[in-house]
Amino acid sequence: NLITNSVKTIGVIVPDIGNPFFSTFIKSIEFLAMEQNCISLILSSNDNQELERKHLEQLINRSIDGIIIASPSIGQTEIDNQLKKNRIPYLLIDQNPIADGDRVMTDDFNGAELAVNHLAQLGHRKIAMIMAKKPSDNLKRRFLGYKQALNSNGLEFDEKLVISTEMSKIGGMNAANKLIKTDATAVLTVNDEVAIGLYHGLNLLGKSVPDDYSVVGYDNIDLDEYLAPPLTSISQPIHELGATVFKKLIERIKNPDLPQTEIMLPVKLVKRNSTKKLS
Ligand code: RIB
Repeated sequence: NLITNSVKTIGVIVPDIGNPFFSTFIKSIEFLAMEQNCISLILSSNDNQELERKHLEQLINRSIDGIIIASPSIGQTEIDNQLKKNRIPYLLIDQNPIADGDRVMTDDFNGAELAVNHLAQLGHRKIAMIMAKKPSDNLKRRFLGYKQALNSNGLEFDEKLVISTEMSKIGGMNAANKLIKTDATAVLTVNDEVAIGLYHGLNLLGKSVPDDYSVVGYDNIDLDEYLAPPLTSISQPIHELGATVFKKLIERIKNPDLPQTEIMLPVKLVKRNSTKKLS
């Protein structure tokens, strides 16, 4: 394919196809690929490291033209032994901590800062964060942004206000039990799926959003507008992310000698009704 200069098939590995963030990301890649007569093979690893490695092997066996890796656990060893050895062009999106390869990221640090600034401006002093139990690199940056923004708003960091959970709706639901045992009045969740679960958990406990807790999610998935109340969230430019990743991978396939690129896309706060002034 490289000889004819046409790209026929690309592979995309995501950690969880059930998460609307990743399904939207995949949709934008599929759309662009189709326009160029290329198809994308999508593989979801369900956060399973072993499966992720198998997926990579399978893609390589099918002489794929290039691979987009949005999964956290494909490390330097796989990159060296499988991708580089077989001369497969690849690109990493934000989850991956490896510096070696083209990467496209979104500004996770600033995203969490925007969320905390918003809550602090509403008068909240006890702002919790619901974090992932096993955070990938970009989620760790979100956490650092949360801490930094507490500091710049003159608020003390309190470990008791950090709740670790699974990155899922159930994880968010379980976190509600822990949240009500703290003195928090506001909370930033590591992503929107966790916020959706949290809504449900709080509801079961007789608590309401935003009267008892102001909630800010992360990702700005399309479901956010349909929740009750509609969820305030940090918007990642998911379509732009998909488009940039696709474009950069094609450039890399067509020109393997290009210098390594690293692109950082900005995020923004989208205010809806899940946050309110502390009364
Ligand atoms: O919801 C999925 C999350 O995983 C997103 O925030 C994305 O950045 C990835 O880390």
